[in-house]
Amino acid sequence: MMEFLSYLEHLRFSMWVLQTQAYAYILTAHTIGMGIVAGVAAVINLRLLGVSPTIPIRPLEKLYPLMWTGFWVNAVTGTTLMIADATTKLTNYDFYIKMVFVFSGVALIVIMRKKIFRDPNLDNGPVPDNVKRLAWLSLFCWAAAITAGRLLAYLGPVSGVPGLSNQ
Ligand code: HEM
Repeated sequence: MMEFLSYLEHLRFSMWVLQTQAYAYILTAHTIGMGIVAGVAAVINLRLLGVSPTIPIRPLEKLYPLMWTGFWVNAVTGTTLMIADATTKLTNYDFYIKMVFVFSGVALIVIMRKKIFRDPNLDNGPVPDNVKRLAWLSLFCWAAAITAGRLLAYLGPVSGVPGLSNQ
């Protein structure tokens, strides 16, 4: 397994990412993508939880393409960063915790679209409690994904120093 991870890390593309400015640009794009996907999800969730009640909910579905764009930017930049530092990232328990929350957040995006925006009674009455529970769960998943993502620098093995670990 470690041989395969080391093989990924020594690909010419991975070396280019790690040894040039590319790393900083890709991590910046990852941060922007995170802001878009988690930010747009937060706008929809906070409206469902009663913030700015005069704003109709149905038009917020138009934000979905932007949310998916943010996610796919992160999937591409994140996979690149993961491959470039495979022996560290793919042996870090915190990385798997983060990915569980990322994919839970994505699953909730899909479920909420079906459950909320397909409801003919949307905007004709109070938001049902089960929808509010989904909104709280979605907010939690994205906050947890971001926290686990940031903690990657502080938990688990240290990048580029085989055998050294933070915790
Ligand atoms: C979809 C697939 C994703 C993959 C494969 C992925 C992978 C990664 C990797 C490898 C890093 C470490 C970068 C480094 O410090 O070297 C990282 C950092 C991070 N990721 Fe992701 N990520 C993904 C999606 C997301 C999403 C959707 C979010 C949040 C909504 C997110 C939030 C973060 C944060 C906050 C960091 C820390 C950035 C920093 O240290 O400045 N990631 N991600």
